[in-house]
This record gives sequence, structure tokens and C-alpha cells, in this order.
Amino acid sequence: MSTTTKKEKVYIFDTTLRDGEQAPGFSMNIDEKLHFTDQLVKLGMDIIEAGFPVSSPGDFEAVKKIAERVKGVQVAGLARANRKDIDVAWDALRNAENPRIHIFISSSDIHINYQFKKTREEVLAIAVDSVKHARNYMPNVEFSPMDATRSDWNYVAQMVEAVIHAGATTINIPDTVGYAMPSEFHQFITFLFNNVPNIDKAIVSVHCHNDLGLATANTLAAIEAGARQVECTINGIGERAGNTAMEELVMALKVRGDKYNVYTDINTKQIVPTSKLLTHITGVNVQPNKAIVGANAFAHESGIHQDGMLKNAMTYEIMRPEDVGITKSALILGKHSGRHAVIARLNNMGYNLSDEELDRFFKLFKVLADKKKQIFDEDLEVLVGEAVYKVKGRYKVTNVQISTGMYSPPMTLVTIKDRNDEGVESFDVAHGNGGVDAGINAVKKITGTNAKIESFNLVAITGGSDALCEVTVTVVEEIDGKQLKVFGNGVNIDISVAGILSFVDALNKLDYIKQRNHIGEKIEAQL
Ligand code: KIV
Ligand code: ZN
Repeated sequence: MSTTTKKEKVYIFDTTLRDGEQAPGFSMNIDEKLHFTDQLVKLGMDIIEAGFPVSSPGDFEAVKKIAERVKGVQVAGLARANRKDIDVAWDALRNAENPRIHIFISSSDIHINYQFKKTREEVLAIAVDSVKHARNYMPNVEFSPMDATRSDWNYVAQMVEAVIHAGATTINIPDTVGYAMPSEFHQFITFLFNNVPNIDKAIVSVHCHNDLGLATANTLAAIEAGARQVECTINGIGERAGNTAMEELVMALKVRGDKYNVYTDINTKQIVPTSKLLTHITGVNVQPNKAIVGANAFAHESGIHQDGMLKNAMTYEIMRPEDVGITKSALILGKHSGRHAVIARLNNMGYNLSDEELDRFFKLFKVLADKKKQIFDEDLEVLVGEAVYKVKGRYKVTNVQISTGMYSPPMTLVTIKDRNDEGVESFDVAHGNGGVDAGINAVKKITGTNAKIESFNLVAITGGSDALCEVTVTVVEEIDGKQLKVFGNGVNIDISVAGILSFVDALNKLDYIKQRNHIGEKIEAQL
């Protein structure tokens, strides 16, 4: 006789807006964070880590707004183990329906001796004091012993026992530097279950980094050992090589449900729309071969595979594209498509735009449809990105005029509106090595920026010489001796215009980061 045990829920904790956003080039402004939060709610996220409130006024504001907006989902704010951080986090979270403070302090001797210059006993006492302090504000307190995987396991067990006793309700075990191996991480989590007497009073969580490409494998190993919360990010973005990718983890649990007796509440059909939204917002595309959300994740190229797929999709497909929200339509849109047909297609792709967003979208749609005969899903996605999620930044390009030829020196005129200057329009003309270079030189003259382009990447969104082009640039600016790096993204039917728009997009992001940080001190903590 076979017995089946009841499936247990694994809580999904999203840290895209905190660990993900703190990675160079991934910063988002408040509007973008709010849009993204709405999508995380749609996706079925259990806990959203909205930011690190003490780290900057911009982060504080974002956590506060997200806390006030979200219903039915827990909102977490990060805090170091000290009273000031916790007070500030509480201030940002106080209006949330279901707030959580996430406190961390290092448990490894490497950090304790070299970074903090304290003893283990002192660190333990600080951890306990901060959890008690947070419990004065709310019952939902998460504690992370940072760099746990390079720590003495007995010391971690001692710390975990003490903080649970002090009131922590979730214990998160971070592999901060992506050092653990799956079998070893499994043993570590099992060790904690066996050696912390009050472990049943808390949910055990894990937070893995991907330095050795093992974040998802380590997270799965921890689930096998009994962890019931996992921390992850969309597209796996995050510090250095990133965090556990939510889409990989959730689909592994779904596809291999035979191996894991657990479930999540993620609506997997929202996975690809969420991934795409993040790339629209940040301007950073995922690599084509990225599991689940890469452009080639469901593309079968070899003849044998294609033959098998035509006979039966199960031959080479372990999950269906529809399961993760990939929808394809045979309907090709164009200049004569009615508004209803376009809206229906957008809804089908998972985009439900407000009237105001639709108005902006249709302005762009009309311009494109006048130039391009057939409009595909990929084009619609780009237009949604432009109409809805693009940074409403300081500078807006209002005109570009390029003159170039095989034998005439390229020259570009650019006109820009500066919102800081009451929307006054300025223009300038410059020469350069081609239309883009000349245009970027003109933008530099108008804005006075010292920012430099570090890399320039161009892709055609669909096939054909009339395809939309997308340019992504990496731009760096030196501020107070520190290099600030951002990505900029521009889309246009003309390659040169797309390049100029991508540079201006990057300038807007730099401007936003400078504003966000200038009011308060930026904390020195490197997570
Ligand atoms: O990687 C890490 O250790 C962290 C903690 C703050 C949980 O991000
Ligand atoms: Zn981390």
C-alpha cells in the first residue's frame, strides 16, 4: 500500500528590488519599482523585499510607497543589526498591511574579525538585542547570519537558537559569496534542523548567490533538507553573478514535482511577462540561452529535435511555453488593425494598460505602423516598454536630424527638453565618426555631461531591414572619485536614433541615482 504525504508550501521571497536592484546598472526609480511590485503581486509572490530603507532617502521612499500600496502580500525591509537601521525600517514599513523586518549580521570569523573587529560573543549579543528591538515593532522578524556558509556551523546554530529565542520567526541562511556546494548545503541545513532545539518555532529560509553557477542547485538542496522559504530574484539578477533565479527554481519544483513534495503559489503563466517587464525597466536583456526566460529557451533548432517535436512535443520538451506565459499569435498586426484587436492582443500577452498608458502606446504604435508593414509581438513588447515603463527622466529627446554619406562628414543635430529647466528645449550640432557618434557628441554639448560610453550593443527586434532596433549602452560617470555605472536603452526604427536615445536614457538614470543619494549619507555596508 502506498502512502502519500501532504505537499508542503514553499514560500517565495522576492529580493529583486533589494539584492537585485543594488547590483551595478540595475537601479530603478520609484515609479518603476511600483509598476514592478504590481507585477510581483500578480505573479503570486509571498513576500516582497522592497529595499534597504536606511541606505538612501530614495530607498526609504520606495519601501514606504510599496508598503502602503501592497495588499495581501508581506512587505519586507532590510536592516543591519542596529537600532537605528531597525527604527528607520519600521518607519518605512509602518503602514504596510503585513510588514516584516529583515535583520542581518555576519556570523563568519572572516567578517567578524576583519570587517567588524569584534568577538563572536559581542556579535551574538548584538544579534539578540536587534531582534528583540524589532519585535517591539512587529511580530514578523526575519534574521540572517550573513556569510553563514563560511562560518563555524556550531556558532551559526548557537546564533540561530538565540535569535529564535529573542523572537525571530524566519531564519534565513545566506550563501553570501556563492561558496557552498549542493550536497554540503544540504548537510548544513540538516545540521541546523538537528542541532537547534527551537528550530520548529521558525521557518527556515535560504538565500543563495550564483558565483559558481550553483544558486538554484543549492536552493533545491536546501528545500530537500526542509527549508520552506526561498529568496530569489527575477532573471537571477543580484550582486556579482546574481541570486537564485525565481523562474528556474519555481519551474524545477513544478516540472520535477515527482521529486519534491512541495508546492508554491506562483502563477507560472506570469513568469515571462515579469521577466520581460524587468528587462524593459532596467534595459538589460537576459542571455538568449537563459533557462526558462531566454529567447532560445523553447527554440528547437536541430533537425532531429524538430522532427521529434513535430511528431510529439514530449520528445524534447519538458514543459510547455504556455506554462511560463509565452503566447504566440498567428495574427499579424499593422497599420489597419483596429484599436480593439491590438488591445485584445496586448491583454493576451499579459499586458493590461490603463487608458492613459494606452494613449501613449497608440501614439507610438501609429508611428511604427506607418513605417513598418507587419507588427509582431516582439514589437508590441518594445512599444509597451517605451509607453509604460521608460524612465520619466530629466531629459527628453524631441528631435534628431542626421546628415551623413560615404564622402561627407557625419553631422547630427539633437534637440532636448530639460525638465529641470522648466522644459526649455535646447539644440546643438556636432560631428563624429558616424551619425550615432555625432549625435552623442551633440547630447554631450547640450547636457554638459562627462559620462562615457563603455559598451554599445545593437539588436534588431524582428527580421527585415525595416525592423525596430534596440540599442543598449553601458555608461559610466565618475562622481566623487567613484565610478557610477548604468545601462541605457533606446528603441527606434533608425539605428542612429536608437543609439542617441539609449545614451539619453542612461543620462536620466545617472541623474536619478545622483538625486536619490544626495540628501542622506549612503551607507558603507557592502552586502
Ligand atoms: O547575500 C546576503 O548575505 C544578503 C543578506 C543581507 C541576506 O543579501
Ligand atoms: Zn544577497
